[in-house]
Amino acid sequence: MILVTGGAGYIGSHTVLTLLQHGHDVLVLDNLCNSSAEAIHRVNRLTGKNARLIEGDIRNRALLDQILGEHPIRAVIHFAGLKAVGESVQKPLAYYDNNVGGSITLIEAMQAAGVKNLVFSSSATVYGEQGGAREYTETMPLGVPSSPYGKTKVMIETILGDTAHADPAWTIALLRYFNPVGAHESGDIGEDPQGIPNNLVPYISQVAVGRLERLAVYGDDYDTPDGTCLRDYIHVMDLAAGHVKALEHIADKTGVYTWNLGSGTGSSVLDVVRAYEKACGKAIPYTIAPRRAGDLPAFWANPEKAARELGWRTERSLDDMMADTWRWQAKNPQGYR
Ligand code: NAD
Ligand code: WQD
Repeated sequence: MILVTGGAGYIGSHTVLTLLQHGHDVLVLDNLCNSSAEAIHRVNRLTGKNARLIEGDIRNRALLDQILGEHPIRAVIHFAGLKAVGESVQKPLAYYDNNVGGSITLIEAMQAAGVKNLVFSSSATVYGEQGGAREYTETMPLGVPSSPYGKTKVMIETILGDTAHADPAWTIALLRYFNPVGAHESGDIGEDPQGIPNNLVPYISQVAVGRLERLAVYGDDYDTPDGTCLRDYIHVMDLAAGHVKALEHIADKTGVYTWNLGSGTGSSVLDVVRAYEKACGKAIPYTIAPRRAGDLPAFWANPEKAARELGWRTERSLDDMMADTWRWQAKNPQGYR
């Protein structure tokens, strides 16, 4: 059985679905601070299987001990955490407490229970500012992320590395995601941000569905082909498949493994807008706004290590990502509510 922390969230719910389809038993632990139990109900309906959801917090050591004591957990996929970059600048302690503190409590409970197999949601943000347009490779030194959120990812990677160094029985996969977007092809599960979205694709979606008036494109004077920032967008179902590959790969190994999960291609903000317009069949009104503080001009994954070692590559195009996002948004204009 696989314990999935944060499994009711955006990436977690798509990964739970994929795990169930691959025949894994799944237990979800989520405090629902940024998600809804409805996501797991829908995953169960889509798969005809039964992932159980326990509503609770990864900082609750007694609860973790109980879960690890009562269920035959062989590995943990750890998604639980706070992820809003701007909010983390305003509330750094909440991010260090939830992300770093929560991860330490989880690692301690796993250590005590003898469950030493962990897949962790890291981020391309750990590469920090490397200067100019960059392809990120796993062998690059970690940078200094500009936000407390990003720093929590560097800290947790470091803590996990030191834990595995001290106790070689551990097996840890650090998965560095690029920009996850899209939704399950059914349109029944997807990303459901609370309040005004911070991220590009959820924002465009709410413009397309009439909840927001127009997109602000943050800067068109970068040194990129059309002047807007380049990012490596990855379909959440490709990302979910990467987790299953990583989990299966590390099952009979020990040590720490790091993989970029990205497509290897950069798309501009305007490329995304045009792909979304094609998917939804309407124009997305936008204005060019000043640059957003902390944004890097252009970066994308070198995805070769995951291809070589996991036999995993992205399969879905930017058009697929936008078509699936639009299907989810059109079927669920108010998200899960
Ligand atoms: P999400 O907010 O949809 O999912 C996170 C889930 O964790 C939510 O369901 C939330 O309720 C739960 N959670 C938060 N704190 C918890 C706690 N203390 N105890 C129990 N549950 C808790 O976010 P997501 O986009 O699915 O991201 C999942 C993971 O991937 C996060 O760790 C995030 O930092 C990381 N990540 C996300 C992106 C991205 O762009 N979405 C990119 C790189 C890395
Ligand atoms: C993408 C592009 C914006 C909104 C963030 C985190 C990162 C990772 C993924 C977790 C940028 C532009 C955006 C808008 C815009 N998360 N944009 N108008 O910043 O690449 O990455 O999410 O680990 O750590 O920083 O993603 O979707 O916010 O922005 O023009 O309203 O869209 O400037 O170029 P980002 P994003």
